[in-house]
Amino acid sequence: MPTQRRILVTSALPYANGPLHLGHMLEQVQTDIWVRFQRSKGNSCLYICADDAHGTAIMLAAQSQKLSPEEYINSIWQQHKQDSSAFSIDFSTFYTTHSTENREWSRRIYTRLKENDDIASRKITQAFDPKEQLFLADRFIKGTCPNCRAEDQYGDNCEVCGATYNPSDLINPVSIISGETPIQKESEHFFFKLQNYQTELEEWIKSGTLQPQVANKLSEWIEMGLQDWDISRDGPYFGFEIPDTLDKFFYVWLDAPIGYIASFEHYCKQAEFDFNEYWSEKSDTELYHFIGKDIVNFHGLFWPAILKSSNLRTPTGIFVHGFLTVNGAKMSKSRGTFIKASTYLKHLDSDYLRYYFAAKLNGTVDDIDLNLEDFVQRVNSDLVGKVVNIASRCAGFIDKSFENRLSSDCGEETLIKVFTSASENISQLYEAREFNKAIRSVMELADRANQYINDKKPWVLAKNTNYKDEVHSICSVGLNLFRILMIYLKPVLPKMSVEAEKFLNCRLDWSNLGELLIDHELNKFKPLITRIDANVVNMMIEESKIDEEPDKQSKNSNDLITIEDFSKIDIRIGEIVAAELVENADKLLRLRVNLGELGERQILSAIRAHYLPEDLIGRLTLVIANLKPRKMRFGISEGMLLMTGDESQLYLLSPDSGARAGMLVS
Ligand code: 2FM
Ligand code: ZN
Repeated sequence: MPTQRRILVTSALPYANGPLHLGHMLEQVQTDIWVRFQRSKGNSCLYICADDAHGTAIMLAAQSQKLSPEEYINSIWQQHKQDSSAFSIDFSTFYTTHSTENREWSRRIYTRLKENDDIASRKITQAFDPKEQLFLADRFIKGTCPNCRAEDQYGDNCEVCGATYNPSDLINPVSIISGETPIQKESEHFFFKLQNYQTELEEWIKSGTLQPQVANKLSEWIEMGLQDWDISRDGPYFGFEIPDTLDKFFYVWLDAPIGYIASFEHYCKQAEFDFNEYWSEKSDTELYHFIGKDIVNFHGLFWPAILKSSNLRTPTGIFVHGFLTVNGAKMSKSRGTFIKASTYLKHLDSDYLRYYFAAKLNGTVDDIDLNLEDFVQRVNSDLVGKVVNIASRCAGFIDKSFENRLSSDCGEETLIKVFTSASENISQLYEAREFNKAIRSVMELADRANQYINDKKPWVLAKNTNYKDEVHSICSVGLNLFRILMIYLKPVLPKMSVEAEKFLNCRLDWSNLGELLIDHELNKFKPLITRIDANVVNMMIEESKIDEEPDKQSKNSNDLITIEDFSKIDIRIGEIVAAELVENADKLLRLRVNLGELGERQILSAIRAHYLPEDLIGRLTLVIANLKPRKMRFGISEGMLLMTGDESQLYLLSPDSGARAGMLVS
């Protein structure tokens, strides 16, 4: 029995200033698949994550919502936790960098850096917003590019000509917070002397644990000369105050990775793990950070140097992935391809996207493209058409003719051996994060299983009672092959695996891969996953467009419309199946309306003053079913109820008796 590895894994801590989108999910899914794989092999693998809760952007976002930063980050934390969990991301803990543990660790580490003479201080001059009384980071300043004269460019680089410059070089610079012209102001800053760790960093880069592209990039930066790193920010700033200073705070990028340590410590308080075993300098556990390629400098230079200076262990490896593109381009709000995790989840099952990401992910830093047509096609043909197909082709016979019991004589040892002996190769591919190759191998096996069933044609044999035993055996082999495939796919498809376990009436466990189900009772087969309807993907894209494209319609009430115009409106009979008050909205009711074949919709309707929620349940009424979903402060409204009335009273319209939910109104 190989010894159990003890592994600690992190994915990058998402900023608490907005919802998770599919780019975040790419990373969390990649990490989660790896973590689940390690656990399925019997290793101990802890997965630590948290919200990255500090910085100017978060402070300003809270202000604009008239919330305290704490209230704001708390509400984002709830959303993040919910979205990740809906994608089956199995964190050991999901904490926050705004924690007591992190405050203490940040101070402790800073003190160690100071004791090692790794901190310098000096005055620097920076842009300052005279109205907001705030120092301005480069991205809070815009102006005209000094190189190509393009307007509205950020303070550090021009998106039109690609030039990089200092904010003071911009023509007509303005603060994007107040619109005022920034002034230059001096203040004292603290710096981490990164060059003190050049030798250690060079050794670390050469150690061979980093991906070649990452090691090359880090070496390039070292060759260019390591600079002092500014780790302080002046107040007002949402973060931790630097000890023995006045109104100076740790820069968010100092305390963010320390959040890995602090969140782990928090986890240790509730679980039986020894903090020092994982973080002491001589630790023999493994530590991996999954990150995107945009934050390699923080994790590949500053972070290991800070850990060295603090006498803490350095990472065993950093696993860097590329960016997510959608339909071959950067995610875009106007094209509807900037898709929030919660929007995706409203329309589609998380296992679909986990599968697609797995089918594309590899161990390199190359970008990953979510091509939506390919996504639909791939999930339908691989998961539904190949994998689930094996089970659905065999399950019916076993149920109908054999009381849902598998044969005591399976046979086909050679074929089954082909499936079980793929385990080694598939394991190595998961370990190396070559998930695309692992999926390819599994799908090749799925093709073989389908081919086996095609060749044996149990549906033909079943017509002749003389072949009863053969049918039993063929379908039992088919379902045993399906079980092996599902063991291989379990790290990728947590939800579907649970359904498969229920059906197969056994745990899908890598450690007993070779133990066949013989004379084994099954549970009733239910389709484990259904095909994706391309229209649903289109609806998700439409909904993602709303953020940036508010309806710009102007309508003259005297305009006449044609019958074609009218026929564009899809009016349906809807049955109100649920109704409730909406907190903090004194006019609204939140309704769930059944539109028959179109499914259920959430509709926010301003009828609270006219109807009690309980009086509405069960009512039939008229609904515009194809109204573009509207994003409101309290959620998305996916339709509109038709009403009549005057200032004092509103009246819902009802059809005559006999009408049913979903019927078209014309
Ligand atoms: O780039 C980001 O989204 C950062 N919030 C990642 C932080 S990772 C770690 F260092 F905390
Ligand atoms: Zn320019």
